[in-house]
Amino acid sequence: MNFIDIIEKKRDGLKLTREEIRFFIDGYVSGNIPDYQVSALLMAIYLKGCDNEETYELTMAMAESGDRVDLSGIPGIKVDKHSTGGVGDKVSMIVGPIAAAGGVPVAKMSGRGLGFTGGTLDKLESISGFRVDLSEEEFVRQVQEMGYSLIGQSKEIAPADKLLYALRDVTGTVGCIPLIASSIMSKKIAAGSDAIVLEVTHGTGAFMKTEEDAKKLASIMMDIGERAGLKMVGVLTDMNEPLGYAVGNSLEVIEAIEALKGSMLPDVKKVAYELAGDMLIAGGKASDREEAVSTVKRVIDSGEALEKFRQMIARQGGDPRVIDDQNLFPQAPVRIEVNASRSGYLDVTSCAGIGECVKILGGGRMTKEQEIDLSVGLKLCRKRGDRVEEGDKLCEIHALSEEDAALAKDQYLASVNISDSRKEYGELIYTINGKSV
Ligand code: URA
Repeated sequence: MNFIDIIEKKRDGLKLTREEIRFFIDGYVSGNIPDYQVSALLMAIYLKGCDNEETYELTMAMAESGDRVDLSGIPGIKVDKHSTGGVGDKVSMIVGPIAAAGGVPVAKMSGRGLGFTGGTLDKLESISGFRVDLSEEEFVRQVQEMGYSLIGQSKEIAPADKLLYALRDVTGTVGCIPLIASSIMSKKIAAGSDAIVLEVTHGTGAFMKTEEDAKKLASIMMDIGERAGLKMVGVLTDMNEPLGYAVGNSLEVIEAIEALKGSMLPDVKKVAYELAGDMLIAGGKASDREEAVSTVKRVIDSGEALEKFRQMIARQGGDPRVIDDQNLFPQAPVRIEVNASRSGYLDVTSCAGIGECVKILGGGRMTKEQEIDLSVGLKLCRKRGDRVEEGDKLCEIHALSEEDAALAKDQYLASVNISDSRKEYGELIYTINGKSV
């Protein structure tokens, strides 16, 4: 087989075979096909697309380019939850312990933040001593023994994706639905769970800007998962404003802990109940939505979900006292208020813009290697659509210096607007069904 023929075939809009896709992935991972040729193929895929079968074959070739975690020794249906990301999204830290407390084994591999989006691993590292680098063996044993673990993706999971993502990043080929779908699903499939609850976000704070693109991405990812024999559940959520009030690593963990103690803002509650419920149903621990909601409520009210989170923190080397004492989180030395310059209705014009504040404050990264500060961020006091009066506190900025705080304040003010009339907003959760969206 000749790789130039494969590039030309895709350039001309033709469908690649399983063998050609395997030749591409195997050749690239082994170093036999150079970056410049793979770049040409990626651009051809970007321009001409892939059908569902090609996307599935690409995903499987990537998933099989490294280790596949073997969770088969753990009884029950292992459920993973994946979100395409957003601003202030602390839902993974809430639904994992809830589902685990409800009896579903949760073996979760999470990522780090990049650009305007945060990452669960960074957030959890704000807990002193917390380890996200458990070995695969420790990870599986912990899920077996306590039903819940949350770690970083090991280097051996889908190495083809690591190489391809780095190349996509520098060749203008990141924003391509078949490439995004295969990238995410290759890692999910290699991570070994039996069912995936998939949340695809859309809006100004998400990778997918429109509901239509989010639907396309969700349906392709669900198709891949189903072809691979996984149980898939898809949920579309709005990301036109941050979820909840906290935006920033340690601040979001604190909000997640409060949620597990039963205190949730309406938007966090809606998404958390939905996704935790889906995990319980997918894991066979609830037969319908009503039973799922009642289990979610029960494990929160009884403190079992919080206890699961506490146990997971302790087991992974973290200081579990953070559950009861927020002062044990890293504290930013400078705090300033941002106040409304006029009366009216608050609107968020750029959710990503609010995410950018965290980057300005040093809590988000531009490149994967960048060190970040875990204490900084924003505590919002108002949501979009809220009536505010001149001088009302809109948010509190936690910063390392007065200069950073001033820059973040400008960025926040550029991301919101106060107007005389209240805008109408769509539903937070757009489409839910157990199969295809
Ligand atoms: N997240 C991934 O893992 N891959 C992509 O391509 C986009 C988002």
